[in-house]
Amino acid sequence: MILSAKHLSKTYIDSDQTIKVLIDASLDVERGDLICITGKSGCGKSTMLHIMGLLDAPDSGELHIGGKVVHSNSAEAPAIRNRDLGFVFQFHYLIEDLSALENVALPMLIAGKSEAQAKARAKQLLAVLGLAERINRYPNQLSGGEQQRVSLARALANEPKLVLADEPTGNLDPAHSNEVWEMIRSLNRDLNQAFVVVTHDVEAAQKANKSFELIDGKLLRIDA
Ligand SMILES: Nc1ncnc2c1ncn2[C@@H]1O[C@H](COP(=O)(O)OP(=O)(O)OP(=O)(O)O)[C@@H](O)[C@H]1O
Ligand SMILES: [Mg+2]
Repeated sequence: MILSAKHLSKTYIDSDQTIKVLIDASLDVERGDLICITGKSGCGKSTMLHIMGLLDAPDSGELHIGGKVVHSNSAEAPAIRNRDLGFVFQFHYLIEDLSALENVALPMLIAGKSEAQAKARAKQLLAVLGLAERINRYPNQLSGGEQQRVSLARALANEPKLVLADEPTGNLDPAHSNEVWEMIRSLNRDLNQAFVVVTHDVEAAQKANKSFELIDGKLLRIDA
């Protein structure tokens, strides 16, 4: 088991209303899984993914990573985020002042690799994602699909056990969306890379080996 979310609950309290975003949500991620989570806008998909990525804390419930309980604010959380998890945000969040190569190299430098090692692997990853010709471009010189592939490369930089992707194709046209889905599927199939992907794309979600829908705070398996 790579990651196990157990009985997560999360409630947001605004001035006058209480929103129960997650109610007893549990999810197990095993090696080689390609898991998709769909659900209406505002139902809590990003919240769920952020909690799994140690970017947010649940009100109750536990997150087990590598067999032990981890809290988002614990001393070990940053290292786990850097080493074991890769995150692809809906709006890529690439650093605009860094080239594609430097964006992908950055998490490896943070993990302690030498600049030469980090750049060599970044080059390799970008080539795998079809961007060999684009490594020295800055984010604003890349198409939306290319930017998302760079962020996928960055998420893969430190050979994470799990990639968490929040609507990685949400702002792409169908052709670029297919491109990114093909990459995700081939990385999953060829390298056994585990993914949890939040998506609006119900058709793409059918290619997952496990599918869930988040409805009224409950995470329901929809393919079994
Ligand atoms: N910091 C916050 N304070 C109060 N409410 C919040 C906060 N963050 C999120 N919410 C609310 O919690 C609910 C779930 O938000 P979340 O971003 O997880 O939804 P989502 O399923 O990812 O939506 P989308 O598909 O539009 O990205 C929404 O109703 C949102 O307004
Ligand atoms: Mg969201």
